[in-house]
Parts: sequence; C-alpha cells; structure tokens
Amino acid sequence: TEETLVLVKPDGVARGLTGAILARIEAKGYSLVDIRLVEPDRETLERHYAEHEGKPFYEPLLEFMMSGPSVAIRLAGNRVIEGFRSLAGTTDPTTAAPGTIRGDLGRDWGLKVQQNLVHGSDSPESAARELDIWF
Ligand code: GTP
Ligand code: MG
Repeated sequence: TEETLVLVKPDGVARGLTGAILARIEAKGYSLVDIRLVEPDRETLERHYAEHEGKPFYEPLLEFMMSGPSVAIRLAGNRVIEGFRSLAGTTDPTTAAPGTIRGDLGRDWGLKVQQNLVHGSDSPESAARELDIWF
C-alpha cells in the first residue's frame, strides 16, 4: 500500500463539493488515514509549490490557494498516487475527461489560474515531501 496527499482546493470547498469528491475517493476504495480543514499561510504554499516558482501562474496560484480553506487528506491505497491522479483527471478542467473529478465537476472560469478542485501528489517523493508539509 501507498500514501498520497490530496487537497480539496478552495474552489472545491467554496462550491460545496468536498462531500462529492470524498464520495468518489471512498467509492474507489481508498482509505482516509487523516483529514483536516486547513488555511495555509504563504510560507506553507511556497514550500508546497516550490517547483513552480517563477512560472507565470505561480503568484496567482498562491493567491488562489489563500482565498479560502482547503481540505487536506492523507489517503492510502494500492497505487493510490497514480490512481488518484487518474481519478482527478488532467490539470485543465476545460478538457479533462468525463468520469474524472475535474472533467465532471471542474469549470472553466477563464481565469489566470486553473481552479481545478483538487491536488494529488505526482510521485512517491512528492507524496512524502508534501505529507510532511501538511500533516
Ligand atoms: P496538482 O495536483 O494541483 O499539482 O495539479 P497538476 O499536477 O495537474 O498540476 P501542476 O502541478 O503542474 O500545477 C499545479 C497547479 O498550478 C495546477 O493544479 C493549476 O492550478 C496550476 N497550473 C498548472 N499549470 C498551469 C498553467 O499552465 N496555467 C495556469 N493558469 N495554471 C496552471
Ligand atoms: Mg502537481
């Protein structure tokens, strides 16, 4: 078994989709190991998004992530890192496949940052690093 960090981002919480997203995660059979409501400060987000520093969407991304609470989840399951990203769908909700969280529930707001409802760690190294930041 494996663990990953999932975030229901501020757009997901604000739109009242936390339950719907959790239902998909639970239906898939993954285990909630820990879960909490978080209101991250800038320093936490700078650590979390260090790989994106300097990119055009970096500042808007941090602003967006500070715009309201998120839900942080320590999620466990067989190959859950790859599996959750598959459940989430591709980054841009405009074109994410139907059947995925972003494809079914994500909206194209035409904004500077993709408000794409969820985050999922992209590798075992990222998962370990990110779980350490949020839990
Ligand atoms: P996460 O699970 O949130 O990490 O998404 P991801 O791995 O699919 O995307 P990535 O790590 O590359 O980017 C992190 C976040 O930055 C994304 O979820 C988007 O919110 C935003 N983002 C990434 N790429 C772009 C982009 O090209 N344009 C804009 N506007 N936002 C982006
Ligand atoms: Mg990522």
